[in-house]
Amino acid sequence: MSIYIDDEHLIFHLKSKKTSYVMQVTKGGYLSHLYWGKGIKTYRGSNQIIYIDRVFSPNPDSSDRTFSLDTLPQEYPAYGNGDFRVPSYQIQQENGSTVTDLRYKGHRSYRGKPKLKGLPSTYVETDNEAETLELIMEDKLLGLIVTLTYSLYEERDVITRSVQFENQGTQKMKLLRALSASVDFLDDEYELMTLYGAAQNEKNIERRKIVSGIQMVDSCRGASSPQQAPFMALVKKETNEDHGEVYAFNLVYSGNFTAQVQVDPYRTTRVSIGINPFDFSWLLEPGEAFQTPEVVMVYTTSGLGDMSRIYHELYSQRLCRGTYRDTLRPILINNWEATYFDFTADQIEKIATEAKEVGIELFVLDDGWFGERNDSKSSLGDWVVNTQKLPQGLFDLANRVCNLGMAFGIWFEPEMVSINSDLYRSHPDWCLHVPDRPHTLGRNQLVLDLSRQEVCDYLIQALTDILSSAPITYVKWDMNRHMTDIGSSALEPERQRETAHRYMLGLYKIMEEITAAFPNVLFESCSSGGGRFDAGMLYYMPQTWTSDNTDAISRLKIQYGTSLVYPPITMGAHVSSVPNHQVGRVTPLDTRGYVAMAGNFGYELDLTKLTEQEKESVKQQIALYKEIRPLIQFGRFHRIVSPFDSNEAAWSFVSRDQTEVVLSYFTVLSQPAAPVQTVKCKGLNPEFIYKNIETGELFGGDELMHVGLTFPRKKQDFTSRFWRFKKHE
Ligand code: DGJ
Repeated sequence: MSIYIDDEHLIFHLKSKKTSYVMQVTKGGYLSHLYWGKGIKTYRGSNQIIYIDRVFSPNPDSSDRTFSLDTLPQEYPAYGNGDFRVPSYQIQQENGSTVTDLRYKGHRSYRGKPKLKGLPSTYVETDNEAETLELIMEDKLLGLIVTLTYSLYEERDVITRSVQFENQGTQKMKLLRALSASVDFLDDEYELMTLYGAAQNEKNIERRKIVSGIQMVDSCRGASSPQQAPFMALVKKETNEDHGEVYAFNLVYSGNFTAQVQVDPYRTTRVSIGINPFDFSWLLEPGEAFQTPEVVMVYTTSGLGDMSRIYHELYSQRLCRGTYRDTLRPILINNWEATYFDFTADQIEKIATEAKEVGIELFVLDDGWFGERNDSKSSLGDWVVNTQKLPQGLFDLANRVCNLGMAFGIWFEPEMVSINSDLYRSHPDWCLHVPDRPHTLGRNQLVLDLSRQEVCDYLIQALTDILSSAPITYVKWDMNRHMTDIGSSALEPERQRETAHRYMLGLYKIMEEITAAFPNVLFESCSSGGGRFDAGMLYYMPQTWTSDNTDAISRLKIQYGTSLVYPPITMGAHVSSVPNHQVGRVTPLDTRGYVAMAGNFGYELDLTKLTEQEKESVKQQIALYKEIRPLIQFGRFHRIVSPFDSNEAAWSFVSRDQTEVVLSYFTVLSQPAAPVQTVKCKGLNPEFIYKNIETGELFGGDELMHVGLTFPRKKQDFTSRFWRFKKHE
């Protein structure tokens, strides 16, 4: 048992291997937050809430001026009855009021973890992996039931939270805000970590001291976005990769989100996370329910590295699903940067033939194979083969590739429509749009209205037809513009602000159906690169194209930042040609290889244009990746040197039994007066003796970790070092 309930005092203690989370129903039936942090055996109330008369803070009970919701640490704060901080939810009623009042009604706890209807979430395979507590809150006047669900993965030190609203009353309710979680901290001694970026510059790590007021990251772009990730961590000043407290929050959602932290005048800190209330509302008719997405909360005292490994293990084992969850992922070659839209079947076969020779396992045909698509201006939505480019059809091309002994994969951008397409001509109202206003284009395209069932049905059929028409075992699912003119012609005026969330529910439904119908197809999501690299997408598609920036030096930061939350096995990483197409940089082939090998490895170039020597190097890279692939994809990842703080980057992968190690070190610019470089391993067994596979040298695990390795500098920019160690028996 891991959820301890004191029925007399209504104290709920969620206790995992190393952490504790404690709540209590307090005076008046309000649910207060008491503690989240290092595990304790038994909670006996040593940190009783100190009630203070804060002068201007309102009091629900007029006889007690010290009791105020304005200062009470709470679990799911309401708006309108005394708490002036950020509320968790807000509901407009038929009389126009947005004041509500949630009080404790009951609770239940059980082994296991429930599924969230229509939404992605982490899961269990057996009920003993997690225990769940549901706290049922009620607004009696409205007949509103709000169920706060907490699932505790005891062995993983993870708590997930989500909320369900049920209208059991007789009047309509309009949700204006419905966040997934709120956590109050008694102090403000934290720094805030978030991930920001842009297309081709995803997942930069940002860290700042929190100050009074609200600090927020969010997206109102209709996608989780490359601009900000649905992730936030509070850390202590001294927290680093290996030590220190971390409180992390990651939303399992791919649409508009908010993640905010608020410091109030009494120096308490409130974290709130969930669907972005901006331009959101949801009408709940009597009898209806609304489910929020899940937030995954991690606490550790062992620094950011430990936080990441907790997320990595949970996400690779209990968020990703399907055939490929536990299967080695194929090394692929994608023709995008090799040909862009301009290719023929023969050219593709030539690249595939070369690819087979160097050991690549999967050929991916990118954009341009359908409709009359020769540039970004047409044909999205017309998922029929482009017979000008592929006169013998897709089946023929796929077979030509498969006959070489490789698998065949294909690109789609299902959520979009081009104005120049048969789909748009026959259904001009199937895109997101607002009556009487002109369309706002992005990459020349419009977003389909996935809040409409018939649009989802069309896409499911179109994808099914193509996937059944040829031996296709991989899909790259792209999405290349954000939402504008958000509105649906299928929704009544008072539901227009539901469109963006209904879109996500539609998208999740399509992905659920397609991935279930084609269980042997490996799906990789993409959004101009890592623009929708989030936990929601990973539930359906176990890997994501990390960035359209394939430059190895840019990728040091992009992959390092992405690894803060998402596991390396989920990160598509390819070697591309030089000068690099995004930044023009020329980097050595081995550096490009070692950077890409830190993820789900592949190539994105025209192999027919490489010299024999380069092809030989590529062959060696592929052979090496095949040897280390189990370690990279299923081992533990350790960040060692941050490219955000220095001219270098280093990371390593260690097998679960600690017998195998891969270590990579990169130097950006060659510097004449730099100090001697030393790299210290992490996560090894100090008792083991490790053998350098290349040189045969023997070192103790303790020596590699504490003393470290030195190595001479190369007089060159963008260099890399790579070591492999195995336990010496
Ligand atoms: C954007 C993706 O990120 C690229 O990799 C490529 O698939 C293009 N779209 C194709 O249009």
